[in-house]
Amino acid sequence: MNLPSFLWLWKIAAWSMGLALLAYLMLAFTGVWMFQGRTRQQIPLIAAYISGNRGVRSLHYMMGITMVSLVLLLLAIGIVGTVGHFGSLGHSPHLAAGLIVVVLVLLSAFSATQIPNKVWARPLHISINVLLFVAFTWVSLTGWSVVQKYLP
Ligand code: HEM
Ligand code: HEM
Repeated sequence: MNLPSFLWLWKIAAWSMGLALLAYLMLAFTGVWMFQGRTRQQIPLIAAYISGNRGVRSLHYMMGITMVSLVLLLLAIGIVGTVGHFGSLGHSPHLAAGLIVVVLVLLSAFSATQIPNKVWARPLHISINVLLFVAFTWVSLTGWSVVQKYLP
């Protein structure tokens, strides 16, 4: 395949990444919201808090599933595009960055499912997501730099 035929694929990658970052920001926002709801002692409207918080939690959950799906889509695009072009993987640090993001996102989702049962799950979930921010930045920068060689 010639180079320009791949450009659309990297455009999808860039858009998916934008949406994944948006999902991350919404997750951070709703996560902090839940944290405050849980830790704040003097809640004037307990009933309002409980019903409102349930909405926030399901929003957080849905955004989480969205982000996991987008990251898996990006992994598939990256592998298909790279194998289609070079016939093999591992042409830049972007591979390591991508794999780290995938592992962290899956660990984050797994730890989230354990929060209701295990005490260690919540701090683990939060720490993983802080690391995920760093990994997201790295994968974006390395992705941006490898995409340059496909530009006309
Ligand atoms: C991978 C996708 C994600 C899923 C499926 C997910 C799901 C969940 C679930 C089920 C909880 C427990 C809510 C509860 O019952 O108290 C939770 C808590 C939390 N999540 Fe996520 N989450 C994801 C990603 C993120 C991200 C990216 C962030 C931050 C950038 C984040 C921040 C938080 C925080 C701060 C809490 C703790 C809330 C509290 O202390 O009450 N989550 N998450
Ligand atoms: C969560 C986000 C991402 C993941 C998991 C991911 C994953 C991957 C993987 C595993 C590869 C194969 C790398 C190799 O074998 O050398 C790849 C390649 C590639 N990705 Fe990503 N990627 C992500 C984000 C991005 C972004 C934001 C861009 C920029 C638009 C991008 C552009 C590319 C390009 C151009 C390649 C071809 C590599 C090359 O020519 O050396 N990726 N990606």
